[in-house]
Amino acid sequence: MQPHVTPPTLLRTPNFVVDAAAYILAAGRRAISERGLFRLGLAGGNTPKVIYSAMAADPVGLPWDKVQITFGDERCVPPDHADSNYRTAHQALLSLVPIPAGNVFRIRGEIEPDQAAAECESKLSAVASRFGEPRYVHDLLLLGLGEDGHTASLFPNSPALEEATRSVIPARGPKPPPQRVSFTFPLINASREIVFLVNDPSKESVIAEVLQGQHPAGRVQPVTGTITWIIGEK
Ligand code: 6PG
Repeated sequence: MQPHVTPPTLLRTPNFVVDAAAYILAAGRRAISERGLFRLGLAGGNTPKVIYSAMAADPVGLPWDKVQITFGDERCVPPDHADSNYRTAHQALLSLVPIPAGNVFRIRGEIEPDQAAAECESKLSAVASRFGEPRYVHDLLLLGLGEDGHTASLFPNSPALEEATRSVIPARGPKPPPQRVSFTFPLINASREIVFLVNDPSKESVIAEVLQGQHPAGRVQPVTGTITWIIGEK
């Protein structure tokens, strides 16, 4: 099947945090209204932390018992480690909203990467089976962008870029810590909607290159879903 060719939507805003949080919550309300569940994949790194905090502080919020959280990638460190993407999301959002623990599909960074990846894969495929999906479908998958055009933990020249079968795999990269577990393009591209969150003017040139299909992030091409870029403007 040819990748979906709808061009990405670019939302440039001086109110990056407020607008990104509102966008995500609106997508959640839509998903829950249409399908009774919001399957949201969280981005790692530093950019989204303030967005997660804004989501937690939203007076309306979401029916969090109808939200399922996954992580686009995780560093292979314990969940209380400063580098843990789970720790970032837990501190900024998950510890502040009434989401059932079973709704959070944490990638266990503290165990062997192969085992952590297989465990996450198995959880996602169990849900996919329940929905009759060949592969887990995120309603919304949040992604960051590195200066080298990586996204999740899919770094340039990594063998992880060529994974065509598995949804979750161990991956290594130059950004410390090097050992990670990452979603793969087959899983990423199965999403209903993908949102890149970028709030760094120094990334403007790499955004332009990604929009031309370059770099690992340029291979994010949802089969039937859409891509939106929410880009902060100073
Ligand atoms: C990670 C992320 C990674 C991140 C980009 C941007 O675990 O490092 O998944 O893909 O999103 O490197 O990171 P910043 O938001 O910190 O610039």
